[in-house]
Amino acid sequence: MKETYAGIDLGTSAVKLLLMDADGKILKTVSKDYPISFPKPGWSEQNPEDWYRQSVAGLKELLAGEDAKLCGISFGGQMHGLVALDAADNVIRPAILWNDGRTEKECVYLNSTVGRDIVSAETGNIAFAGFTAPKLLWMKENEPEFFGKIAKIMLPKDYLIYRFSGVHATDVSDASGMLLFDVKNRSWSKKMCELCSVEDSWLAKICESYEVVGELKPALADELGVGAGVKVIAGAGDNAAAAVGTGTVHNGDCNISLGTSGTVFISSDNYSVDSKNALHSFAHANGRYHLMGCMLSAASCNQWWMGDILKDTDFAAAQAGITKLGENAVYFLPYLMGERSPHNDPHARGAFIGMRMDTSREDMVQAVFEGVAFGLRDSFEVAKSSGLDIKRTKICGGGAKSPIWRKIMANVLGISVDTIESEEGPALGGAMLAAVGCGRFASVEAAAEAIVRVTGTVEPEEALVKKYEERYAMFRELYPALKPSFAKMD
Ligand code: XUL
Repeated sequence: MKETYAGIDLGTSAVKLLLMDADGKILKTVSKDYPISFPKPGWSEQNPEDWYRQSVAGLKELLAGEDAKLCGISFGGQMHGLVALDAADNVIRPAILWNDGRTEKECVYLNSTVGRDIVSAETGNIAFAGFTAPKLLWMKENEPEFFGKIAKIMLPKDYLIYRFSGVHATDVSDASGMLLFDVKNRSWSKKMCELCSVEDSWLAKICESYEVVGELKPALADELGVGAGVKVIAGAGDNAAAAVGTGTVHNGDCNISLGTSGTVFISSDNYSVDSKNALHSFAHANGRYHLMGCMLSAASCNQWWMGDILKDTDFAAAQAGITKLGENAVYFLPYLMGERSPHNDPHARGAFIGMRMDTSREDMVQAVFEGVAFGLRDSFEVAKSSGLDIKRTKICGGGAKSPIWRKIMANVLGISVDTIESEEGPALGGAMLAAVGCGRFASVEAAAEAIVRVTGTVEPEEALVKKYEERYAMFRELYPALKPSFAKMD
């Protein structure tokens, strides 16, 4: 029987599971979706039980018919979500997700009343609406009866770890996004916990992403038919896991993820914070650090425009009609859930601008791709202005499957974009972390060296880069012009 490792990417629209053999060959992938609810404008919630149910169903499907000995399981998880359990381990309320914008008041309290200098000195970051600490303050103020019942807090993938192994553990990369964590020293921040009324007993044990936290519970192992001793490895936030899955593990390496969110991830050997805290400064899954810009709606903009609005599922046909790269008169602001990096504005909203009588449906599809690329360029500019010289990037996530989107990315950023054999970044990264945790590879870097292969590169074209430079300059004018109006909407 082959030794295998499972990676579980607990995403926002679905859980994606991947089975990898000891040589890094992907044997199978499975995806299982679950609903998301938007109870009020700008709010977003999910039911942790759905995550567990679909992850277990997905694991059964993944293992069915495979002549495989499962050695270890690990995770890439949607970050920042608040899962709160009571003393009997019941989930107290639906999880409040990473793209939820309800905590504006709490962020103002943390960044202005407490002060961004203090928050940044404690955690390496300032408060953004989707981070976990402001959600706890919101719950304390708005749902005191629920807040009073809290016995444990955890992040989305840590809920799976807990249900799988019975161990309340998290990893350094995911913990970094809670704003309760001292990123530099890889430990909980006592001061931030006090400020947010978080008790020590609520907090998970901190692990490096490749550390074993425990074993699958015997009842679950029986249900899955996998025998005893399957190791559960801590895993990482989905962006750090994706970086592992694309081999973004050396100083200055860059990865772009076009998933529900869009991120620019820069691996770094050393801890650093940019002067305006515009980029997140988080721990990496390889024992080191990273900087990251995150836009809240990326591939989800295309999903929304094609699926919800145009009711068209033929994405390839729609993209085949795109012919005006660098010449589109239409602009799209991709702020369907507000925006995190770099605007930090939960009131920002989506917009199409520049339509004329000759505007076509293709122009608008193209504008959506370009708007996301320009949004990522905003984070890329912050990285450049803090001295990082990025010449190439990997790319992963659902949006990375689109050749036209990859081309737009390469030309809007003006850098080479490398594609990897598999765009399943976080699930592959999860499986790789499991393999490292089980001792198959000596380090995360060694696993990346052995497993990750670049299969193609999109090079920027000088003339197109120039055209996009002008378009980007126009794009940059639009959000500041609309910001005051966005603030009055809803
Ligand atoms: C990162 C972030 C998102 C989610 C998506 O800070 O909030 O990328 O992790 O799942």
